[in-house]
Amino acid sequence: MTKVITYGTFDLLHEGHYRLLERAKALGDYLIVGVTSEAYDKARGKLNVVDSLATRIENVRKTGFADEIIVEETPGQKVQDAQKYHVDIFTVGSDWTGSFEYMKDYCQVIYLERTKNISSTLLRVQNKRIQRIGIIGSGRIAKRFIPEARLVSGVSVQGVYNPHLESAEKFADKWEIEAYQDIEKFYEAVDAVYIAAPHETHYGYIKSALEHGRHVLCEKPMVLEKAQAEELFQYARAHELILFEGIKTAYCPGFSKLLGVACSGTIGNIRNVEVCFTKLENPKSRELTDLRYGGSLTELGSYVMLPILKLFGEKYEEIRFDVSRGENGLDIFTKISLVYPNGMATATCGLGVKSEGRLLIAGTKGYLVAEAPWWKTSYFEVHYENPLEVEKYSERFLGDGLRYEISDFLSMINGRNSSEFKLTRSESVALADMMEQFLKAENRQNIRLKAQDIKGVFHEDLGTQRMQSEISGEYAVSF
Ligand code: CTP
Repeated sequence: MTKVITYGTFDLLHEGHYRLLERAKALGDYLIVGVTSEAYDKARGKLNVVDSLATRIENVRKTGFADEIIVEETPGQKVQDAQKYHVDIFTVGSDWTGSFEYMKDYCQVIYLERTKNISSTLLRVQNKRIQRIGIIGSGRIAKRFIPEARLVSGVSVQGVYNPHLESAEKFADKWEIEAYQDIEKFYEAVDAVYIAAPHETHYGYIKSALEHGRHVLCEKPMVLEKAQAEELFQYARAHELILFEGIKTAYCPGFSKLLGVACSGTIGNIRNVEVCFTKLENPKSRELTDLRYGGSLTELGSYVMLPILKLFGEKYEEIRFDVSRGENGLDIFTKISLVYPNGMATATCGLGVKSEGRLLIAGTKGYLVAEAPWWKTSYFEVHYENPLEVEKYSERFLGDGLRYEISDFLSMINGRNSSEFKLTRSESVALADMMEQFLKAENRQNIRLKAQDIKGVFHEDLGTQRMQSEISGEYAVSF
């Protein structure tokens, strides 16, 4: 019996796939088809696959050519499969010619002519209009957004808005996009916005973008009050718009894997989570000088609270903040302690104190640990009572990692809500609630800015220093 194997994503199954499978089957007696897993596709940078793994497998099955369907999960799997299944022929389309010469050590390799003028990529583009994204703010994180967005098919970065035209133009020139000072014209030119402006401007910008019928991807912390988050989500839902908080960790494949392992029972019942993220910041930076919205918690609190909310949920019984302050009174190191009915957690963040950044999840059978930068999750371990028993997990984290959230944002705009669970609306509300409680405990008053007031407020209320830091592009940090 001649065994043939072939691999592919088989997204939006089309004629090219059908003809490939038909010819692959005809090469032998038994055809094995490897369909790529979602995590594998993400890890190799193939974002925006439309169909779920289950649908893709079902579609391959329906062609009637596959005698066996397996899932391809890792880059080295093909060699293993060839040996495991005693494969005689490995085949793929001619777009891969030359790429699989190494398989010749195990079996015959045949490249079948690719069917012209059809591909999943083409179908994706035809199915969905390209989403034009506009950026609000032109600080450091905005800079990282553009190269990442360019890797996600189906989006194009259209332009940048900044109330200070000079800053917008500088940014726009560098990235060859449009600069806007007039927010109405800006909204007209885009379908969705990415907000990378100072924290306190988020609420006003989100509201105005939604009111203009635009989808919103907003940097963390999305807003600083629970009621604001609820109001905005409600508005977005009522108007069939997507409002999405950009905490990149939540969308990266490694973090999803980590949560999956943590919740699988491998380490038993989770009883304690300790999570820490510190980053020494320039004492003159906005983060360490803005007495109203600066400090370690507003900057890093979203990251450290994320694993806790994902693992224990939003209903804690107690929350306490312990703060170490810099000379100007701002929190430079903050500990959030939470008590849950069946567990406890500590989230630590620092901008002026350095500590070991680690995520530790303790359970009744073992513990899971991810070292810094756990927020760009690419590696973690599971340990048990026997110190020699260690399970190691890794996952790729590509570039700055924003591509994952952009891709999920786009999927949601296109009507696929399969990634919504990664950071739910109620988790975003819980984060805003935590920020609000902290700012209240610190006696800092939140001011409600409307989009049209933002520029003026920079002048009158918050002082020139903040305005200048915006002009020089120093707003919004990322890691
Ligand atoms: N294939 C083909 N003819 C096409 C498209 C794909 O013969 N027009 C083959 C590929 O060479 C591969 C298999 O079908 O052997 C699965 O390819 P896959 O990557 O799933 O399909 P594409 O349409 O190329 O997907 P994408 O556009 O996402 O890269």
